[in-house]
Amino acid sequence: MPTPSSCLPPSLELFADFLRFPSISTQSERDADTRACAEWLVRLFQATGLEARIEETGGHPCVVASSSRDPQLRTVLIYGHYDVQPPDPVEEWESPPFEPTVRGGRMFARGATDNKGQILAHILGVAETLREKGRLPVNVVFLVEGEEEIGSPNLCGVLERLKGELAADIAVISDTGMVADGFPTLTFSLRGIAALEFKTLGPACDLHSGTFGGAVANPLTAAARLVASLHDEAGAVAVEGFYDAVRPLAAWEKEAAAGLPVSDEDFRKVAGVNALAGEPGYSAIERVGARPTAEVNGLSGGYQGEGTKTVLPSSATVKLTFRLVPDQDPETILQQVIAHLEKHCPPGIRLEMLPGHHGAPYVTDPHSPFGRAASRALERVFGQPPALLREGGSIPILGDFQRILGLDALLLGLAWPDNHAHSPNENFPLENLELGRKLNQAVLEEIAALPQ
Ligand code: BES
Ligand code: MN
Repeated sequence: MPTPSSCLPPSLELFADFLRFPSISTQSERDADTRACAEWLVRLFQATGLEARIEETGGHPCVVASSSRDPQLRTVLIYGHYDVQPPDPVEEWESPPFEPTVRGGRMFARGATDNKGQILAHILGVAETLREKGRLPVNVVFLVEGEEEIGSPNLCGVLERLKGELAADIAVISDTGMVADGFPTLTFSLRGIAALEFKTLGPACDLHSGTFGGAVANPLTAAARLVASLHDEAGAVAVEGFYDAVRPLAAWEKEAAAGLPVSDEDFRKVAGVNALAGEPGYSAIERVGARPTAEVNGLSGGYQGEGTKTVLPSSATVKLTFRLVPDQDPETILQQVIAHLEKHCPPGIRLEMLPGHHGAPYVTDPHSPFGRAASRALERVFGQPPALLREGGSIPILGDFQRILGLDALLLGLAWPDNHAHSPNENFPLENLELGRKLNQAVLEEIAALPQ
């Protein structure tokens, strides 16, 4: 294994070394760090006893690692990502985001939960099984990518190209959440996503707001009106056709959701708000797991500096993402949204559309033989049967795993609701590194034991 560098126990050392790479996929000035992180992973896999290499993608590289293949055994694809979100706002971190620090039994650093701690748990599990038994109960192929947080723009090409090498019976992924701290969870659905940026364009240059204001449309006002037009008063999305393809919740799902150990009040507290909002008629857990949304992620334009500036800005920018549920199609949704914005665009304003990345929603049957094997593994490790959960986040490549590789995924998340993924002070409970390692061993055994 790569040489540890301070005085933590060996697996925590490795964890800290992994976290020191600022592998921020969206920032090109971090490209060298991102690649160095991938190379470090290759060395870690090799030290574990797997064959490993960098696979170029045209963007950030992937890491592919596999055990020797025994044709008698099932094959499991273990997927994860080594790229992370930007740490901003950096001043809100209690310890620097790329100087991993242990406090109160948790490791704090950007990427600790999402996804370095979770993928490392699988690597540690495989390493320990190989050390103790000399062999794994299944063939294993790891695919660890560097572009998940930017929508996996180059991964489809890799799946097509390496179809043979990545052929497997099932995918195992820990990049999701646990319904409550310490509560084992099998996630069987994730939302899809479609991104769209648009600009409202007014006058050719910024104008004096006294000389021109009142007679010239203001692009920021137009942007705000367009953003507001995306929802109705009650909180439902107001884009025509948006809900047409939405599959309603099955009766068993409603029941399962009602039985989960999180109330709306728990949810409100974790979010840190004084009241919840959203579409009427659904609990918070149903809204984020099973209902689609329109979110504004950024709105900018005009003067942002100190004091006032009487300006009528020439343009404004809005960044939107839509979370989608089965059977919404991202491309159709983007067309509907573009049509909606064009229809509501006020006179005197031109629109420029910049459609972004997208990924399909994902759903599978948690009661399939593989799903039940995963539930048994979770129960063995956590001492109680798992919650069956639909989650609101997205792993954009999952739809392509189904389409290109014919693979379903067992989503065995290790992230607690308060682990601050994507937020300041992201952290990962040290016990979850340990439990995740055991979970890897248990799930591979349960998959191996399934009847042919
Ligand atoms: N680990 C998350 C996905 C996730 C989050 C699953 C919460 C379940 C619950 C993943 O790393 C992620 O953040 N994905 C992005 C994808 C996007 C940038 C295309 C997301 O969901 O915002
Ligand atoms: Mn993420």
